[in-house]
Amino acid sequence: MQGTEPALEVTDLTAGYGPVHALRRVSLTVPAGAVVTVLGGNGAGKSTLLRAVSRTLRFHGGAVVSGTVSCGGRPLDGLPPDRVVAAGVSQVPEGRQVFARMTVEDNLRAGALGRRADRTERAQALRRVHALFPVLADRARQPAGLLSGGEQQMLAVGRALMARPELLLLDEPSLGLAPLMAARIADAIREINGQGTAVLLVEQNAALALRLASRAYVLEVGEVTLSGPAAELAASDEVRRRYLGVVDEDAAADAARARTDHPALSRWDPAAPGGTGSRPRDRRQETR
Ligand SMILES: Nc1ncnc2c1ncn2[C@@H]1O[C@H](COP(=O)(O)OP(=O)(O)O)[C@@H](O)[C@H]1O
Ligand SMILES: [Mg+2]
Repeated sequence: MQGTEPALEVTDLTAGYGPVHALRRVSLTVPAGAVVTVLGGNGAGKSTLLRAVSRTLRFHGGAVVSGTVSCGGRPLDGLPPDRVVAAGVSQVPEGRQVFARMTVEDNLRAGALGRRADRTERAQALRRVHALFPVLADRARQPAGLLSGGEQQMLAVGRALMARPELLLLDEPSLGLAPLMAARIADAIREINGQGTAVLLVEQNAALALRLASRAYVLEVGEVTLSGPAAELAASDEVRRRYLGVVDEDAAADAARARTDHPALSRWDPAAPGGTGSRPRDRRQETR
């Protein structure tokens, strides 16, 4: 996954659970080496998107209906999940999902199983994880279930890094964490990216995600409704009001400024390729 090929290219992805389409014709790109975020309220389809990329949707009773996913120019369509990990894509699932009874050390070891590596590479991966999250070295022999929520999130991220991914998929890493711990996770994401790993971050915490990402997409009821550079989304009145909790008067004043400052923000357009032309305006969800 070297060079200028995007770390991830999702094209016209439709996926769901039985008759329910949780994603409709979603397209997005994570450029090589970038952090890209997908914002959206509860039930918008964020986890479904990550599961479709990691090919784990069927473990949740779902399936990809149509569309393509490629990583560093290589298609992932039809691969089993272990081959996706071997191709350089690791997912940190929603709710962390660490193995509570296993030690911290063994959780990390499990993460390394997904990718072929010699002993030196594994030791390097472990050193990287311990440097990022020293608490995982200090508590190596303890059962993972004894860690705090934030430490478990560190372990879940560390476990994913043990497969030495080129693209890391993060499903709401800040969920349920105190602000200070969420900020520490954000610092770690920045550092991981600084070391060359591309990141697709899905979050309800838009303020945190927009600080980390260079590009952002808004997902609403399974469709991309807004996308653009993260700084421009952060300045958009709609995003500020609905995802950043900014009150209307501020948003209106800022929006006037943002419109002149940031004319490039691309809005959902029924006439554009990928638009379905039938998005009801009232299917909205409010978050915090
Ligand atoms: N395992 C599942 N079985 C059936 N429907 C599901 C399942 N998981 C999610 N859904 C539905 O798919 C839609 C998108 O959910 P999800 O991707 O979990 O959203 P988000 O992660 O943005 O909260 C929701 O309507 C949700 O109820
Ligand atoms: Mg989710």
